[in-house]
Amino acid sequence: MSQRSAHIFLVDDDEAMREALAVLIESWGYRVSTAGDGVVARSEIARTTPDVIITDVVLPGMSGLDLLEELERDGVKTPIILITAHGTVGWAVDAMKRGAMDFLTKPVDHGHLRELIERAVEEIELQGWTLDLQRQLEEGRLGQLVGQSPAMEELFKSVRLLAAKQTSAIILGESGVGKEVVARTIHDLSPRAKGPFLAVNTAAIPEGLIESEIFGHEKGAFTGASQTRLGCFEQADGGTLLLDEIGDMPLALQPRLLRVLEEGRARRLGGSREVEFDVRVIAATNRNIDELLQTRVLREDLFYRLNVFTVNAPPLRDHSEDVALLAQHFVQNFNEKHETAITGLRPDALEILENYEWPGNVRELRNVVERATILAQKGWIQPTHLPGHVRSVAGRGKKVILPIGTTTAEAERRLITETLAAVGGNKTEAARHLGVDPKTIYNKLKAYEAAE
Ligand SMILES: Nc1ncnc2c1ncn2[C@@H]1O[C@H](COP(=O)(O)OP(=O)(O)OP(=O)(O)O)[C@@H](O)[C@H]1O
Ligand SMILES: [Mg+2]
Repeated sequence: MSQRSAHIFLVDDDEAMREALAVLIESWGYRVSTAGDGVVARSEIARTTPDVIITDVVLPGMSGLDLLEELERDGVKTPIILITAHGTVGWAVDAMKRGAMDFLTKPVDHGHLRELIERAVEEIELQGWTLDLQRQLEEGRLGQLVGQSPAMEELFKSVRLLAAKQTSAIILGESGVGKEVVARTIHDLSPRAKGPFLAVNTAAIPEGLIESEIFGHEKGAFTGASQTRLGCFEQADGGTLLLDEIGDMPLALQPRLLRVLEEGRARRLGGSREVEFDVRVIAATNRNIDELLQTRVLREDLFYRLNVFTVNAPPLRDHSEDVALLAQHFVQNFNEKHETAITGLRPDALEILENYEWPGNVRELRNVVERATILAQKGWIQPTHLPGHVRSVAGRGKKVILPIGTTTAEAERRLITETLAAVGGNKTEAARHLGVDPKTIYNKLKAYEAAE
């Protein structure tokens, strides 16, 4: 529905006033129907389902307030604007408590009326748009993964494929792109879904404890081992084990891990026998895999054992089409968690989110939506509910204008310094905008300084 074709229903017993208002509202581009009393209005409204209702409070037979109540009983959700004479302002205030959208006093201020109608129509459009998003949300998900962009469809394909297989896999992607959710979804859709899903984050365990966390230990295996502890393979038996941050696995443990993976058996620290297990192993890292291999942080043989299949989880900036859907998904989650009543995001707020770069990917979006939900409490998330650094999307719309005759060296210098200024001097951020390594920025700046 476009703003201009909205259907306005006007109820007033004063024919001259009614006709005058109808002509006025039509002149703003709306379609207008009218009724002279509440009874006719009620049945016409049921029949024609207008977008906005405007009614006089004092009507013969059924008053505007009675009409409001009847319509509520009929389940009509259409916004209602009341028009009152001075003597009935108290009623109108009462009516607002009962759900009327707003009221105007006679003589009707045309500008105010027009503004109210526009606001009502905009609200309906937003509601319709959000409903649409909710419908898309029902389709645009796989397990706990939300998205419907081609990039996410591609990811969904890999997830479905892997769910049907038993092979190991490695999930690559920046921090916050959802690698753990991908692993969990593969598990949830696989025949192992009834078994456990266990995520072991190598980066989060103190180095001295990693061995015992992964392989387990027998009681008394070392000082402080007062209880027997099952290794993660035993814990995940029959299910899926996510070895998260595989790039942080101590090098010394990697050959042992490889052997365990190949043999399907592990020995606890201090244990005398090997325990068999049936575990599907998925690994993940947010680090550059080539670099991990080149610098020998990750052993090639272990990598090839895990890397039967590679899943690339895309950064959010490469599928910003999904921001609306993801944000709506998080709004619904946080409404439950915080008992808020957010309907959704206003288009201007969403536009800001869609233009942001999301260095922290979906995790960052989730945090921004959570904060906005708490700030707004109900209704719509507006730009003011978004953090300043997201709102002032660095450099958006700014230009670097270079006259013909500028040398390429000078052009590069201008582009670098102005981008840097636009992002408040943040070199990493500037490097991302320019598509170069932060190191390049440092070096260039040093060279500029030296030349001065
Ligand atoms: N496609 C998605 N749909 C719904 N939620 C998502 C999606 N991607 C990420 N999330 C959410 O974003 C947050 C971060 O996801 P997750 O922990 O899986 O990221 P990660 O890639 O493992 O990051 P890290 O490398 O920092 O461990 C979680 O709250 C997760 O639920
Ligand atoms: Mg993770």
